[in-house]
Amino acid sequence: MSDPTQSRALCAVDDIDDPGTRGFEVALDGQQVLRLFVVRKSGTLAAYRNNCPHTGAPLEWLPHQFFDLEQSFIQCAIHGALFRPEDGYCVRGPCVGRSLEPLELEVRDGRLYLAAAPGGARRSPV
Ligand code: FES
Repeated sequence: MSDPTQSRALCAVDDIDDPGTRGFEVALDGQQVLRLFVVRKSGTLAAYRNNCPHTGAPLEWLPHQFFDLEQSFIQCAIHGALFRPEDGYCVRGPCVGRSLEPLELEVRDGRLYLAAAPGGARRSPV
């Protein structure tokens, strides 16, 4: 676990439906803003940068809406690429075989935090 004093609070776990998604913008040091989203499905949480590997564009259709209609895959609003929620791997579309960039999450006392140092994939059971 990373240093909890350096992690960024996002929301309560129960603020995200299962299945459901929610987008965030987190201020980093300096003027940078990290756009990300959290996906919750089948009791598992994952977070990714909100950038499609095809063009770098944000993925959501509407604010906080990252799922396809069946809530099976993350779907890019620009050209329709489909990504597996559990690992961000693209299974269909112009960037098939590439992946969303995972971010590390922590769950403490029912609240969700972005770990201090974005890095490898980490899925958090709820
Ligand atoms: S920008 Fe996402 S599929 Fe093209």
